[in-house]
Amino acid sequence: MKLVARRLDVVEPSPTLAITAKANALKASGVDVIGFGAGEPDFDTPDHIKVAAKKAMDLGKTKYTPVSGTVGLKEAILAKFKKENGLDYEKNQVIVGTGGKQVIYNFFMATLNPGDEVIIPAPYWVSYADIVRLAEGVPVIVSTTPESNFQITPVQLEANITPRTKVFIFNSPSNPTGAAYSKKDVQALCDILVNHDIITLSDDIYEKIIYDGLEFCNPAMISQAMKEKTFIVNGVSKAYSMTGWRIGYGVGNAEIVKNMDTMQGQSTSNASSISQAAAEEALKADQDCVETMRIAFDKRRKLIVDLLNEIPGIQCNLPQGAFYAFPYIDGVYSLPKFQAILNSEANAKSDKKNSSPNKSTVFCDILLNKYNVAAVPGIAFGDDNALRLSYALGEDDIRKGVERIKKMVSDLS
Ligand SMILES: Cc1ncc(COP(=O)(O)O)c(C=O)c1O
Repeated sequence: MKLVARRLDVVEPSPTLAITAKANALKASGVDVIGFGAGEPDFDTPDHIKVAAKKAMDLGKTKYTPVSGTVGLKEAILAKFKKENGLDYEKNQVIVGTGGKQVIYNFFMATLNPGDEVIIPAPYWVSYADIVRLAEGVPVIVSTTPESNFQITPVQLEANITPRTKVFIFNSPSNPTGAAYSKKDVQALCDILVNHDIITLSDDIYEKIIYDGLEFCNPAMISQAMKEKTFIVNGVSKAYSMTGWRIGYGVGNAEIVKNMDTMQGQSTSNASSISQAAAEEALKADQDCVETMRIAFDKRRKLIVDLLNEIPGIQCNLPQGAFYAFPYIDGVYSLPKFQAILNSEANAKSDKKNSSPNKSTVFCDILLNKYNVAAVPGIAFGDDNALRLSYALGEDDIRKGVERIKKMVSDLS
């Protein structure tokens, strides 16, 4: 009996979750692993948010809610968009899901037809391309470089638009590069987008983790015309350190929201009632806790980038947002010892009639197995020249982890 559905042929298991699981298993066996792999803040969820969840349980808010979310949370979301982004939406334009990831999944399941193209600037968040494939769409990957600060240019965007383009994914600040677009950069992309029949999916999940006074801007904030063509995804995971609570939300065209509601109603129904009460508190309460975490991330950002740039063969841009560094390690790839390891891996693989190994995967395997540092290979984000290091860990661990990377590079030199 064939157990696997054909639709699984086009997707890979999430590499970030896989690395984290491997690192956790090593840790559990007593190995002192430094984990740069996880895509989540290391802080505890703030107390006032936990109190709201406990109160919801005590008040018996433990039943099904409307599929698209409680009235209270939807009102808090609408108020957030008005206050923080200057955007007005109606209640039938908002949907709450089990994490931003489910909102993105439902968005694509509700909008794509087979063969519809989705423009995805690379390096990209691991799940975009796989979700698009699951929804029978075609990811059109557009590579960017450290020289353009990992931003897609208007020329690149226009060159990749075809009559089959349905969606453009915009993610700022970005996972994995931490790059963030200024208002001027967003405006330049919108000058192209506004003339096409394309929906922009704006993934704003790192909106609140932004540095050096850069003002957050998404395409919907550029003009009314762009607002009508933009679907925004956001959530409480990253800003409030609530990854396990699983609350994300989306706003945009009411018909898309209605179809996403249908998708969700036939799969998971509503997100957890208790988590929704907690998310409502997170959005409505004083935002001091967000600022405290942002300041801590900012310090770690400068520390990790400075330390990485001291290593010969490694070059790292200073990210403008999120909590990831995306150092380029192609200088290490050219070292003869690394080349020798690659060749022996390639020979082992060719015995098994498999393709040659990805350099960033080989690098990260050695880093984890020999130097006990977990990092995610850049190839998982569509760029084999780099690795992604999450700096959501204490400064001592950052120092220790980067020291081990330095040792690995020195051993290869
Ligand atoms: C760019 C981006 N979008 C969306 C998500 C989804 O987050 P969640 O499902 O926890 O809300 C993540 C999480 O890693 C992310 O990095």
